[in-house]
Amino acid sequence: MTWQYNPRTAIVRGLRTPFARAGTVYAKLDALELGKIVVSELLQRSEIDPKDVDEVVYGNVIPSVKAANIAREIVLGAGLPRSIPGFTVSRACASSNTALTSGADMIARGYADTVVVGGAESLSTVPILFSRRFAEVLVAASRQKTMAGKLGLFRKLRPKDLAPDAPALAESVTGLTMGESAELMAKENGITREAQDKFALQSHLRAAKATADGWFKDEVMSFPVPPDYENVADTDNLVRADTTYEALAQLKPVFDRKFGTITAGNASGLTDGASAILLMSEEKAKACGLQPIGYLRSYAYAALDPFDQLLQGPALAIPLALDRAKLTLKDIDVIEMHEAFAAQVLSNIAWLGSRKIAETKLGRSEAVGEIDPEAINPTGGSIAIGHPFGATGARIITSVCNHLRRTGKQYGLISVCAAGGQGSAVIVERE
Ligand SMILES: CC(C)(COP(=O)(O)OP(=O)(O)OC[C@H]1O[C@@H](n2cnc3c(N)ncnc32)[C@H](O)[C@@H]1OP(=O)(O)O)[C@@H](O)C(=O)NCCC(=O)NCCS
Repeated sequence: MTWQYNPRTAIVRGLRTPFARAGTVYAKLDALELGKIVVSELLQRSEIDPKDVDEVVYGNVIPSVKAANIAREIVLGAGLPRSIPGFTVSRACASSNTALTSGADMIARGYADTVVVGGAESLSTVPILFSRRFAEVLVAASRQKTMAGKLGLFRKLRPKDLAPDAPALAESVTGLTMGESAELMAKENGITREAQDKFALQSHLRAAKATADGWFKDEVMSFPVPPDYENVADTDNLVRADTTYEALAQLKPVFDRKFGTITAGNASGLTDGASAILLMSEEKAKACGLQPIGYLRSYAYAALDPFDQLLQGPALAIPLALDRAKLTLKDIDVIEMHEAFAAQVLSNIAWLGSRKIAETKLGRSEAVGEIDPEAINPTGGSIAIGHPFGATGARIITSVCNHLRRTGKQYGLISVCAAGGQGSAVIVERE
């Protein structure tokens, strides 16, 4: 099946907050605050009339229990016209990719011509829930009319009922965390610790160079951080310009302490941050005299059984997106793969280059294509820059578009793996 966008979706520009290690500069900000900051700055920089925005579509993985539809809350809280509707999407780490493709679908149908998309995550302020038993007692106590009745219920609680119930990074069906799943993938695909550390080093050194060379200046905003405005956030604080292969090689494995290869150094860290992209129909962007940073060419999502190799979704989504774009891997000028773990990127590369995988998983007779790990992620990736789940996809899409503009190249491919065994692939073009 061939597939084409009509009208074409222009990626007018993208912006993000600097990404920060959880518990640092944004420790007091939730995802909504971060989202409001980046969306209002994006609209100001874009110099469009906010009244022109038809919809806000926003990604978020760990939602607030008080404001679940973060997209609409951004409209209401960021001073946008209150007539703009908004909806929130979640596809785990591919949430802002999904926000972008949902916005583009509205444009392609002619239902909208200006859509703000993006995503935010605050791992500093994840909601910590009461245990089920404690919550039941609280609800029952609220219905009691007398203090004695309330106290009688509370007396039935045991100390273990008071333990908090934190959100898990574990898969519901396998019970394994992302890190444990990535460990299994490393073993099954023969990805060595050395290869992972080498890849992590490349991520940090490239991100540090891109930052120093000013490559992120159009896509990373700076701002005094509320609520006290004493610190200015102006750069990603997880990037380690001074890291070395030797330092990485000394770190202890975290998810399989005895035989494992994944460490704090070759995994993405827990991160806070937000991103946003302004999408328009090509016609509207031209009519407004705007120069888009790129155009959406195609996209695809795919999924595999989480009991298989959990984070290999991109290896299934990429060939679909290439087919839909009528391109092959050889046509792609820049590839950016989200780095949940170095082991996951290297495993996806191994699958894409495997004829056996093509035959057994894709129903194809030829491998999708060889990728040199040194040829991807030219400005570093999530290992160095960080990974605020809901925000990452839009960060990468913006970065790839800007990279194509800087280098004068034409096609960019973005992939993101996601919980539940899903993968996202997006192809963008410069002209
Ligand atoms: C891997 C993980 C458990 C590490 O958490 P952490 O222990 O808080 O990590 P830290 O940043 O404190 O790093 C631990 C140590 O490694 C060191 N380290 C980390 N990266 C390093 C680097 N590039 N070079 C040198 N040292 C490094 C730190 O300095 C720290 O050393 P210290 O203990 O002496 O201070 C956590 O980041 C994690 O869970 N990541 C995966 C998240 C995930 O699953 N995401 C979903 C993916 S889709």
